[in-house]
Amino acid sequence: RIVYLNGKYISESDAKISIFDRGFLFADAVYEVTAVLDGKLVDNAGHLARLKRSCGELDLELPVTTEKLTSIQKELVKLNNLKEGGIYLQLSRGNAGDRDFAYPVDTKPTLVLFTQVRSLLECPKAKNGIKVISLPDIRWKRRDIKTVGLLASCMAKQAALSAGADDAWLVEDSYVTEGSANNAYIVTAEGTLVTHHLSNDILHGITRKSLLQLAEEAGIQIEERRFTIEEACEAREAFVSSATTFVWPVISIDDYQIGDGKPGPVAGMLRKIYIDIAL
Ligand code: PDD
Repeated sequence: RIVYLNGKYISESDAKISIFDRGFLFADAVYEVTAVLDGKLVDNAGHLARLKRSCGELDLELPVTTEKLTSIQKELVKLNNLKEGGIYLQLSRGNAGDRDFAYPVDTKPTLVLFTQVRSLLECPKAKNGIKVISLPDIRWKRRDIKTVGLLASCMAKQAALSAGADDAWLVEDSYVTEGSANNAYIVTAEGTLVTHHLSNDILHGITRKSLLQLAEEAGIQIEERRFTIEEACEAREAFVSSATTFVWPVISIDDYQIGDGKPGPVAGMLRKIYIDIAL
């Protein structure tokens, strides 16, 4: 793979970062994942806008314009001949030469991008749905900032796999916040689409934003509010969304079958419209 590191397009084996990089020492870094379909970036303006916001919350200065970022992304897609998958972008506060909690002054940020091949369209989980388990949400309180401090999410994902499931729905104060790396939705018996409202408790998903708009245009009733695992188990259907999944139906929660245990029509329709527009 050809990757991007601080202004250079180089082979991944030549890309080296200091052990004093604050992304490595403190997870002092933000990131974005943009899907690539048919060689094209999906919903990328939203991802770069969120990157800017994440940087703003951390007083982290973007070293290049969003236009330049887009051209780097496109160049990498071209250099790696990526047709379907994703592009990962990470910006850390850089190498401060030592370990010190305070933000350093005059440190150059580290900007890294690399591509990932992934089957987004033909995907068994999209077709058959996934099983999730509920777990306590032990993440920090600023989940709206997309930082690389993802260990709690890794632990949740791993616990789900160990339990024979595919992913975890994270629960705080009895309410579902989101999935380990995706936003969570249910469709109630009345056909209302419900997903957690925007707050510091969840990541403001870019796919979420697009899907809610598509759902509204399709005449689906929407409620942005919290829901419990109990309510989810009584729902007609459930699903998750992200740049790496688009929409994946959820067919069981804690081994409790959702609806008829098959992927639901609302998830299927939203997935189809979202992909049709991206292509
Ligand atoms: N994760 N919630 C969390 C905690 C996430 O990590 C993500 C994305 C989402 C969905 O956001 P979006 O629709 O903008 O991708 C929600 C990415 C894909 C990742 O960490 O790989």
